Amino acid sequence: TGLSSYDQGFVNTSSTKSAITFIDGDQGILRHRGYPIEELAAQKTYLDVVYLLVYGELPNSSELEAFDAKLRQHSMVHPNMVKFFETFEPSAHPMAILSSAVSVLSTFYNDSTDPRDPEQIELSTIRLLAKLPVLTAYTYKSLVGESLVNPDSNLSLVENFLSMTFGHLGQDYAANPVLTKALDTLLLLHADHEQNCSTSTVRLVGSSQANLFASISSGINALSGPLHGGANEAVLDMLNFIHESGDSVQKYVERVKNKEDGIRLMGFGHRVYKSFDPRAKIVKAHADEVLRELGVSDPLLDIAKELEAAALADSYFVERKLYPNVDFYTGVIYKAMGFPARMFTPLFAVGRLPGWIAHWREQNADSTTRIGRPQQVYTGPAKRSI
Ligand code: CMC
Repeated sequence: TGLSSYDQGFVNTSSTKSAITFIDGDQGILRHRGYPIEELAAQKTYLDVVYLLVYGELPNSSELEAFDAKLRQHSMVHPNMVKFFETFEPSAHPMAILSSAVSVLSTFYNDSTDPRDPEQIELSTIRLLAKLPVLTAYTYKSLVGESLVNPDSNLSLVENFLSMTFGHLGQDYAANPVLTKALDTLLLLHADHEQNCSTSTVRLVGSSQANLFASISSGINALSGPLHGGANEAVLDMLNFIHESGDSVQKYVERVKNKEDGIRLMGFGHRVYKSFDPRAKIVKAHADEVLRELGVSDPLLDIAKELEAAALADSYFVERKLYPNVDFYTGVIYKAMGFPARMFTPLFAVGRLPGWIAHWREQNADSTTRIGRPQQVYTGPAKRSI
């Protein structure tokens, strides 16, 4: 077969058809199953959107209740899994722990690893949705050297996650409702974004008929890079750097424009959005509110605002259509909530999980799916002899 095209980075190649998420990057439009992200964020919860992405429709109240109950029922992880979290150095990156934990999960739940069995697919869907927040909280506890807190089926998914993260073994913990609502909204905003790097990875791995656990573990690794989900951590590092260096925001912007040391304005730019990322608008509106309600004032938020204004007024960024993306303001909010920067990308993973699952299932259910197998342009030596 002759080579049809060369498209490094898949800038202009559709790898699939999909009915899950619509994006118009020029106009800054994002819709899940037809519903605008603004309406979903204002009127629905993370769990509603998880259901919407995975099953195709928003749940009615009894469907939501049954779904929530199932997730609570599956939140415990196998006791032997707990030992896994005792083995890491405090310096370990949580994304590495998390992707490994998801991979390991399949060994304890191998009654839900057959990608040809719809019941097993459903069971692994529920198990992953219920357990990833638990594994993320365990990861946090293991890194800060505190005892793991068991999930509590009386709590909602987000309350449970906060309680397992910030609560302490044997002590009562009541999640602040402001914090709970804000985290719910942030998870909702991350729930899907069509064929981004991690979702495409999940699809590619899944196209070999690897099971859902293996595919999601690969997605978590793809998300970890600073050009993708890792950007939220990198944004905070950048804001801290500017704050601590005492340099002006303008000086930093000049360094970015001069491509000094290859630095980029983290949290800026997007392959698809050539105008405002609609998620960034919602997050920005939340940042002030959440910090105020949590009683936190953070100079990094001021630096972020100044940086955004400087970039939006600068021809370098205007000409390249670089706008703040979803990661630009999330870090400041996560920080105000009490998360260390290294936990920001795991939070992205928890949010994005339903999108990965929805895409894996959509592809798996399509009988026309073939294994993903890109072509290359060979640039090595022509035939030679030894
Ligand atoms: N700061 C400075 N310059 C930039 C930036 C940036 N953040 N992003 C792109 N550019 C420049 C780039 O140098 C190039 O300029 P030139 O034509 O002079 O070489 C031009 O803009 C086009 O960039 P590109 O690398 O071809 O764009 P891309 O579509 O391949 O990359 C991106 C998209 C998101 C990886 C990139 O904008 C970037 O590195 N942003 C910073 C990291 C970031 O915030 N990532 C999160 C993305 S949104 C959420 C997610 O997916 O996780």
